[in-house]
Amino acid sequence: MRTEAEQHPIGVFDSGVGGLTVLKALRKELPARDYLYVGDTARVPYGRKPREMVEQFAWEITQFLMDKGAEAVVIACNTASAASLPRLADEMPIPIWGVVEPGVNAACKLTRTGHVGVIGTRGTIDSGAYQDRLRARGLRVWAQACPLFVHLVEEGLAESEEAELLAHHYLDARPPIDTLILGCTHYPLLENVIRRVVGPETAIVSSAEAVATMVRETLGAAPIAPGHQPGKVTHFVTGDAASYRHTAHQIGGVEGEIVKVDSLAPAVA
Ligand code: DGL
Repeated sequence: MRTEAEQHPIGVFDSGVGGLTVLKALRKELPARDYLYVGDTARVPYGRKPREMVEQFAWEITQFLMDKGAEAVVIACNTASAASLPRLADEMPIPIWGVVEPGVNAACKLTRTGHVGVIGTRGTIDSGAYQDRLRARGLRVWAQACPLFVHLVEEGLAESEEAELLAHHYLDARPPIDTLILGCTHYPLLENVIRRVVGPETAIVSSAEAVATMVRETLGAAPIAPGHQPGKVTHFVTGDAASYRHTAHQIGGVEGEIVKVDSLAPAVA
């Protein structure tokens, strides 16, 4: 039996399918919850768009999720987290979490040498969101934007030869870091390829698990009672529903209804 609080869905959003890595981690930590997932596939990628524009998207989507009954929102996108937090969290009446802070915390725990790398979209890397936080914790930082990675994932090419070539292109010149933060929620889907390039001795941090643990610790989670089903997921996509289903399926499946929405902006009265 779900508690009253658990009947409220948690909202999760990303520019596309990348945030499904976060959704998966959340469902593992809080299985009884219902989730509303927004994949803003009509406007992907966010990573090359101006910060103000991405911030505006984050506001619109958070409002959309609140209108659908979300009691908390996880920004499952580093670019949108870097662009809109902490302002969005300060001004919204519900808890809002991003993925940058949990990733930084996880890297701080893992590094032994104090030399950490972070890869992300151009928007995330140019914002300095990771670099500033890591340096404030006394670490040395190497940062690299990998703009083409998101396209590979959205095209279902995460395990391809092209992915391997690009991973070498972006990572071969790295200094001797001992920890690498995947500062984009699309990148865990490239983890096998990235692992082959950086080798087994480099710790890889994906903020998906870290943010899911933080949400569970804040909201609390009951196990699923015997005879009860896990919570359900509804996906709202701004682009083509069939191609979202196809890509999501290629990267490990998508449960739940997929609803195409024409606009996330509030209806004008
Ligand atoms: N997955 C997103 C992130 O974590 C955004 C990728 C994009 O749309 O460029 O930054």
